[in-house]
Amino acid sequence: MNEVKVYAPASIGNIGPGFDVLGMAINGFGDIVIARKREEGIKIRQIIGDSNIPIEYDKNTAGIAAAEVLKKLGIDNGVELILHKNVPVAGGLGSSAASAVAAGYAVNLLYGNKLSKEELIMPVTSAEFCVSGAFFTDNTASSMLGGVVVSRSYEPLEVIKIGSIDKLIIVIAVPDFQLETRKSRSVIPEKIQLKNFISNMANSCSIVAAVKNQDIALFGRSVDDVIIEPARAQLIPGFYDVKKAALENDAYGCSIAGAGPSVFAITDDIEKAKQIGSGMQKAFERNNISSKISISKQDETGARKID
Ligand code: HSE
Repeated sequence: MNEVKVYAPASIGNIGPGFDVLGMAINGFGDIVIARKREEGIKIRQIIGDSNIPIEYDKNTAGIAAAEVLKKLGIDNGVELILHKNVPVAGGLGSSAASAVAAGYAVNLLYGNKLSKEELIMPVTSAEFCVSGAFFTDNTASSMLGGVVVSRSYEPLEVIKIGSIDKLIIVIAVPDFQLETRKSRSVIPEKIQLKNFISNMANSCSIVAAVKNQDIALFGRSVDDVIIEPARAQLIPGFYDVKKAALENDAYGCSIAGAGPSVFAITDDIEKAKQIGSGMQKAFERNNISSKISISKQDETGARKID
């Protein structure tokens, strides 16, 4: 095999209260990487899509992930990448993770498929680290494995795939501005109150239980983050109006997607999803922010080869 094409889905990590622990892969957005064998060195030949991210391989998560996976495989040869960038950059939907996962998975397939998906998570997360300045696997693990994934420990890495809820609908409002993860992490408090810790812990556990029990209402009301969301809300103009609009239109729950600025809401009804999306969009508009609405579902598969 000299060439391979791989898709990796976008993701929402933290799923509300599960900061750096809970992530879920979603459909509707995803990056594609075409990887070709090369004698030596890594080159990103082209980036296709709405993006002004760097094409230098060592400044791009796809290129860095490719390098990390080649290193882990102990291979001296190189790779050439074409990146189709479909996940909005700095939007809170695991954009840098999707590029890294697609590239890392592609390079492994190209050179003999010797590493498992789990073994690929650390090298592709190193790429994410270079961009965000922080090490977290909620986006990379869920984009790689699909569904809802718990990142229990980094040393050693232990990730647990929980599964997905087939009928769960995720309404996402993607505002028309970018928010760097680095900036969004800088506002998080270093100390938290015990009662808030207990609330987020209870809701995180309930999200896992909701997937196990296929309980969409429980999933939605557990998307309640009393620690990170209040700190980050200040970076998203109109966030509380958008959340109110989602809840007034019968969403089971609503929170910031990843590091923001996208906002997601949970429902199980497609007609309600449209109303929720329209309400969220209007609320952003009232705050002079234009946004796009996506109605997505969970992606059960994660990274995969495509034709
Ligand atoms: N868990 C990370 C954060 C995800 O919330 O900062 C970033 O997409």
